[in-house]
Amino acid sequence: MRIDIITIFPEFFREVFDFGIIRRARKAGLVEISAHDLRNWTSDKHHIVDDRPFGGGDGMVLKPEPIFAAVESLTGAQSRDSCPGGTRVILLSPQGRVLTQAVANELAATKHLVVIAGRYEGVDERVSEALVTDEISIGDYVLSGGEPAAVVLTDAVVRLLPGALGSETSAINESFAEGLLDCPQYTRPPEFRGMRVPEVLLSGNHGEIVKWRREAAEEKTRRNRPDLLK
Ligand code: ADE
Repeated sequence: MRIDIITIFPEFFREVFDFGIIRRARKAGLVEISAHDLRNWTSDKHHIVDDRPFGGGDGMVLKPEPIFAAVESLTGAQSRDSCPGGTRVILLSPQGRVLTQAVANELAATKHLVVIAGRYEGVDERVSEALVTDEISIGDYVLSGGEPAAVVLTDAVVRLLPGALGSETSAINESFAEGLLDCPQYTRPPEFRGMRVPEVLLSGNHGEIVKWRREAAEEKTRRNRPDLLK
């Protein structure tokens, strides 16, 4: 897979993909991740990427021309309709559909992601109308820019690529895999500051452990995320 991030802060990404599973996936050649400076695709002397909103209002809006040029140079496509198969062009914004494990799974099955990190008060709507295949939000809150969202999206997708998780871990049993949160986990010591690890986990009775984990996951989901059970 290839992931191209379009941003006005390419330096933001300098080390963030150099740790843990993402680093390992890159080293293993499962994914190639690049951050590109949107200003590379400006044609004026001052490399201007934003302008005032028509109709008035606060802040600045990212102009369409550099973004269309960036996506064309990275995908060959001038618009969503000519986007090659296996390529998704994603705009990160609070107005997008919310990133879930299902969306991450869907994106992990593609070959090429072009990720546009929005900035300022917004992005010219023609990007959303005609260029992007997906407008995605990482949650119902507003960030000052799409860069942290690009890191979140990249992490959620790359760890799902076949071979990214070592044999010791797997995405099969984790949170959201079955519409439930993950069950609580414990390690040594069996007693810490008077708090005991549930006896069943020390019992060696596999059947009972499976049953306890299921119930504990349901209980945790009821308490923290009742919306998932509806
Ligand atoms: N940019 C600003 N807020 C965002 C959010 N919640 N998700 C994705 N991109 C954003």
